[in-house]
Amino acid sequence: MKVISTTAILALIIPSTTLGFQISPNSARVSSTSLYSKPIDSVNEAIDRRSAIHQIGATAAGVALSSLLLSSDTALAAQDYDDEKKKRILITGSNSGIGLDAAQRIALRGHEVILACRTLEKAKQAADKIKTNIANDSMDAVDAIARIKALKVIPMECDLADLASIDSFINQWKRTQNAAMFDAVCYNAGIARNTEAKEVLRTKQGFELTVGTNHLGHFYLNHLILPLIKENGRIVVTASGVHDPDSPGGAQGVPATLGDLAGFEKAVVTGDKRFDMVDGGQFNADKAYKDSKLCNVLFTRELQRRLDDRGSGVKVNCFNPGLIVGTGLFRDQNQVFTKVFDVAATNLLKVGETTHWGGGALEYMSLSSMVGENGSLYYTSPPGSSKYGEDAFGREFRVSEVSKEARLSDSGKARRFWELSEKLVGV
Ligand SMILES: NC(=O)c1ccc[n+]([C@@H]2O[C@H](COP(=O)([O-])OP(=O)(O)OC[C@H]3O[C@@H](n4cnc5c(N)ncnc54)[C@H](OP(=O)(O)O)[C@@H]3O)[C@@H](O)[C@H]2O)c1
Repeated sequence: MKVISTTAILALIIPSTTLGFQISPNSARVSSTSLYSKPIDSVNEAIDRRSAIHQIGATAAGVALSSLLLSSDTALAAQDYDDEKKKRILITGSNSGIGLDAAQRIALRGHEVILACRTLEKAKQAADKIKTNIANDSMDAVDAIARIKALKVIPMECDLADLASIDSFINQWKRTQNAAMFDAVCYNAGIARNTEAKEVLRTKQGFELTVGTNHLGHFYLNHLILPLIKENGRIVVTASGVHDPDSPGGAQGVPATLGDLAGFEKAVVTGDKRFDMVDGGQFNADKAYKDSKLCNVLFTRELQRRLDDRGSGVKVNCFNPGLIVGTGLFRDQNQVFTKVFDVAATNLLKVGETTHWGGGALEYMSLSSMVGENGSLYYTSPPGSSKYGEDAFGREFRVSEVSKEARLSDSGKARRFWELSEKLVGV
């Protein structure tokens, strides 16, 4: 009942064509920092502090960092995570929003995190932000030095809107990191155009930008990176509730559907990769985002089926982090609505989640031993679950049914979707 009335109120607040959530504040990316255990009021101050620390020249204490490094809230869920065995985890889109938050959480546990971002500069800035946050959160200079020194974060460039950049990323990984194997790979990056946008923007190879980035970029990366994932490794896909027209968010505006894949089919048959919509319809930015998230769910299920067929031990699961207006995802939406929506969703109606909690969801999917050992699962939670904090993971945040259309993963449609994706990216 509560969800229905909440949805009705949201529908009144926001325009009829919506992402099923919406909006983007100017300060969206910056605001994510407020969700760390200590906000960064002055980054410069922290950097000054860090350089002062370096000038002191104190050496890092060889401390058992794993417990020290955990902030109080991440420590709550520690029993589900095996932090003894250090892992190597790649996260796309880890310079902002839940990807950045998850990267910091995972790095704080002592695991190696590869920050795969649109540009190297953004990846380096993300690494600096993580170090700054940790410096701010440290007890003293010696503590800060030890914690920062123990961090293993590798900034790298991987622009998902350009297949050549993905190629370069993989080649560089093989060359500079000796083709080290990953324990987990998280396909988290995503864009959402302004829901009113009429102009079709395109990736370097000509794909419609939203599906081209959120699905095809990750699809191509997956093709290249799969041999570099450990036998018992996992893949995590950041999907969304809006993939499902029967969910509160997915019911707003034009619902997601890939139809009969006519847009993909035509692009493959004609060799012109400039499809507008997967289903062959007229471009609709709101629907394109929802479709891309449906692609994420179909991809998860079809990939697991293929991995199982070939006897691979790799497990793939996807999740919905919930409505988080404070990330950068809403950057292209109407600024006024974004702000109103943020206050309404997060403070008034309490259906929104915090970025830090969303990062916790990604951390849980990447590391927790409680996450589906057979793969192919979709995790989500009722709106407003971040009020339960870390306790929600494995309780409110749990396995759920995917949309009717995504359930077609057992049918020929999912196979065809996969084959067409292969042809589009040229593998
Ligand atoms: N926020 C929500 O309400 C919500 C709800 C459900 C699902 N999700 C999903 O959660 C994921 C993370 O989003 P978020 O909310 O944390 O938003 P965000 O702060 O905007 O993070 C998205 C990340 O994706 C990156 N990205 C976009 N295009 C890229 C490209 N071509 N190459 C490489 N990276 C690219 C962005 O990098 P730049 O900074 O360079 O653009 C950014 O780091 C997305 O998949 C989104 O669909 C979010």
